[in-house]
Amino acid sequence: MASEKVLAYLDANRQQHLDQLCEFLRIPSISSESEHDQDTQRASVFVADELRELGLAVAVHDLGGHPLIYAETEQRPDRKTLLFYGHYDVQPVDPLELWDTPPFEPRVEDGILYARGSSDDKGQVYTHIKAVEAYIRQGIELPVNVKFIIEGEEECGGHSIYRYTEENPDKLACDAIIISDTTLYNETTPGICYSLKGLAYMEIQVSGPAMDLHSGSYGGTVQNPANALAEIIAKLKDEDGRCLVPGFYDDVLELDQDERDGFAALGYTDEILQQETGAPAPFGEAGYTTLERMWGRPTCDVNGLLSGYGGEGAKTIIPAKAMAKVSMRLVPNQDPAQIATAFAAYVEQIAPTGVTVKVIDHHGAKPVLVPRQSAMMQAGMTALEKGFGAPPVFIREGGSIPIVRTFQECLKAPVLLLGYGLATDNIHSPNEKFHLENFWQGARTSAILLAEAAR
Ligand code: BES
Ligand code: ZN
Repeated sequence: MASEKVLAYLDANRQQHLDQLCEFLRIPSISSESEHDQDTQRASVFVADELRELGLAVAVHDLGGHPLIYAETEQRPDRKTLLFYGHYDVQPVDPLELWDTPPFEPRVEDGILYARGSSDDKGQVYTHIKAVEAYIRQGIELPVNVKFIIEGEEECGGHSIYRYTEENPDKLACDAIIISDTTLYNETTPGICYSLKGLAYMEIQVSGPAMDLHSGSYGGTVQNPANALAEIIAKLKDEDGRCLVPGFYDDVLELDQDERDGFAALGYTDEILQQETGAPAPFGEAGYTTLERMWGRPTCDVNGLLSGYGGEGAKTIIPAKAMAKVSMRLVPNQDPAQIATAFAAYVEQIAPTGVTVKVIDHHGAKPVLVPRQSAMMQAGMTALEKGFGAPPVFIREGGSIPIVRTFQECLKAPVLLLGYGLATDNIHSPNEKFHLENFWQGARTSAILLAEAAR
């Protein structure tokens, strides 16, 4: 049990910790936008300084991308070791006009903190730092050795942390990897996540005429790239929501009855989905419930679509080009490289004549599955129950954290996904938010976990 003094410290310093988090959130560390490179750098300094002030040994690694921060407390051989992972970079903010207040001017309203990065992932990773701080500032010996690896390239598909992990497995050696970059089941029910989806992210480029053509002069004489792309997209899925890429489902690990029963017992309804998303009706692969689709089935979705004229009024053209970005969220045991290859071959096969089609494979991620029964899992469950005052339920996530599989493979340690955000936190979207109650509860949970993991 984490000493009462540790938890009392977290309670007594809530306002200060919130103020510090706000300072962190004011730094626009958008890793994918090079105009923000300086800011991303500043966010790494913020994190490194804070860990250094706590007395940890900190190393900042430049592996060609954004700085990778490694920090450790004293490592004693008689203690277990926990490795905490998180990211200090954030997503771009567009469409900016849909934010109620500026994304990098944190604001608290009704107990909710609004800012880009508040939930994904600055607020969540900060709970780990504050938990460790509580022990150190109270002069209470840490129950475990602590290591931090905090990256600035999670949102932009950077390679630094992969290289570092592959080349330095001894440095990162640990008894468990703790990650808070996922969600609770809902505001009052913590979840312990045992599966993340993988990802294959593709771009389809369709080219036709050398320039936009007058649709009267040339319409009907050449293939229209926008129409051609629509034809391709229409063949990606059938009416039942199943992906038509050949072999797509070959390696899908079916949900077992236990999981399906567990999901059903959570009582997620169409009304909740509608309330959360604003979509007029649920839709997805036939034969599966909403939670099964969300957590346990692979998807194929257009993420972006661009062609021709979208401005005011009418402009009569045959566009020269059309482009679509398509994401396929994958489940165990699908392989992103295989899926990407199958996708490209299929698109080329179904492409109509009269246009040139190019398929680009952007970054991917492998899906993750962790055993639901283990001593570390138990420690995580206990910590969540004590930290949130309610027993956790088993959940999976539709999102991806690309480094997790590399951790599993290189470090051979169990991964614990303790998410403190909410599915409705608007991550990657305008008005991202983080509930302060969940921030405090998260910090308590992380503090308790340090003690529980030592057992
Ligand atoms: N924190 C998210 C992952 C996440 C999202 C977990 C939703 C649970 C629910 C993470 O920062 C993220 O956004 N990952 C990307 C990875 C991708 C770019 C390879 C994602 O899932 O889109
Ligand atoms: Zn993210």
